[in-house]
Amino acid sequence: MAMAAAQFYDLEGCGVLITGGGSGIGAALVEGFARQGAKVAFIDIAEVESRALVDRLTPEVAHVPYFLKADLRNVSDTALTVDRAAEALGSLSVLINNAARDDRQPLEEVTGESWDENQAVNLRHMFFVAQAAVPHMRRSGGGSIINFSSIAFMMNMGDIPAYATAKAGIIGLTKSLAGRLGPDNIRVNAVLPGMVVTERQKKLWIDDATIAAMIEKQCLKQVLVAEDLVGPCLYLASGCSARMTAQTMIIDGGVF
Ligand SMILES: NC(=O)c1ccc[n+]([C@@H]2O[C@H](COP(=O)([O-])OP(=O)(O)OC[C@H]3O[C@@H](n4cnc5c(N)ncnc54)[C@H](O)[C@@H]3O)[C@@H](O)[C@H]2O)c1
Repeated sequence: MAMAAAQFYDLEGCGVLITGGGSGIGAALVEGFARQGAKVAFIDIAEVESRALVDRLTPEVAHVPYFLKADLRNVSDTALTVDRAAEALGSLSVLINNAARDDRQPLEEVTGESWDENQAVNLRHMFFVAQAAVPHMRRSGGGSIINFSSIAFMMNMGDIPAYATAKAGIIGLTKSLAGRLGPDNIRVNAVLPGMVVTERQKKLWIDDATIAAMIEKQCLKQVLVAEDLVGPCLYLASGCSARMTAQTMIIDGGVF
């Protein structure tokens, strides 16, 4: 696995909460932060994948990642889960809002319910997890929140109206939270991945032709994998980016 070569010493022993850490990019982040010596907790709805990840990392890292099962669509449950995570970690300094579900839906099939459900799974929880995390971060003297958006919302993709709306909304949320939380020394930035080839993407949406078409658009001609998002998130979490907030960081191999 291509892991970040750099060591971020300030992340050692640091409390990190990752949503959607059970698979895909989130799992790479759980592993990447745990390998830095960070104390990692992650929330996911997928129990089997999440437990398998913890089992795999248990013999290999100083602090075994702590898995909390929860459905992030449930706002009150989510706040309690964040409190439990912070308690398990001892302190909380980094939040990575990563969980999402990129359902495709043709325009004609979108209903009021499906629209709300899409915002609940892709956007709403990012605010409420942050809201619950902030008091813990204040107690730590500050922190870093990293919200996962996507370049997808800038690509005029017609079959993801609700997802694209949520991913664009995350930029607005990032900037508003950055403004509100800057005085508390809590930084808030967004990451916009390009096409990252994960198991779910391969199973549901992309094939060799889609990948080739995206690589054609990229400056760099390599496929992006989940581990490629680890380094940028370590940087945004660490003091190396201490004066960086309200920004969007595109990691797409150079499409935009
Ligand atoms: N893979 C890509 O190409 C790509 C591109 C751009 C942006 N992104 C963004 O990166 C992030 C991670 O994407 P990924 O491809 O790794 O996704 P993924 O679907 O592989 O993983 C998402 C994780 O979130 C969890 N999750 C989903 N709904 C949940 C809920 N209601 N409660 C708790 N957990 C829930 C899933 O179980 C899963 O483990 C997302 O925000 C996604 O929008 C991904």
